[in-house]
Amino acid sequence: MDNPKEKKLAWAISGSGHYLRECLEIIRGLEQVDLFLSAAAAEVLRMYGHDLAALRSQLRVYSDTTASSVPVEFLYQGNYHTMVIAPATSNTVAKMVWGISDTLVTNMYAQAGKCRVKSIVFACDNEPEIESEAPVGMVKVYPRRIDLENVERLKEFEATTVVADMNALRQALKDRLDWLSTSSS
Ligand SMILES: Cc1cc2nc3c(=O)[nH]c(=O)nc-3n(C[C@H](O)[C@H](O)[C@H](O)COP(=O)(O)O)c2cc1C
Repeated sequence: MDNPKEKKLAWAISGSGHYLRECLEIIRGLEQVDLFLSAAAAEVLRMYGHDLAALRSQLRVYSDTTASSVPVEFLYQGNYHTMVIAPATSNTVAKMVWGISDTLVTNMYAQAGKCRVKSIVFACDNEPEIESEAPVGMVKVYPRRIDLENVERLKEFEATTVVADMNALRQALKDRLDWLSTSSS
């Protein structure tokens, strides 16, 4: 599949409550999107009261149930024009920057890179102090130096745009979809 207009968006969610609701709102407003969940994401979605069955009725959802991350084969079939990872936990970001791909989400990112598919990443732990939505309500989180350093490392990666907030995520998505809609092949 060579024409980007015939391809879909791949969106991966890791096990983060931070801006999970806002990311799901963006996903629900998109057309032509497949969803990929880490094992932790499937748990966390339920903990925040999101209905996985309802999501599955609206779009194709792939869970992390295989050792080899079987759904990555869709990247090699050329099904996707862009990979979005949002929200990305500090765990997923750490694995991504050190080249580890042992979950569906980290594998989708690694294989997207190897297929030269561009990625947009919203890393949760991107400031020394953040307000985050926990199942019990808002809590303060103080990301560690290693978490912040890993986000900086990710910014150096090829074919990767790291966004700092939901507005930047919406804008990066819009820019990408606008570019795709005007590209000739
Ligand atoms: C309710 C809940 C909320 C969580 N929110 C976050 C979060 O915002 N950021 C984060 O880095 N980890 C968060 N975690 C921890 C991750 O789910 C955990 O590190 C998990 O191993 C991540 O796996 P994954 O990166 O493969 O999705 C949360 C855990 C729970 C139970």
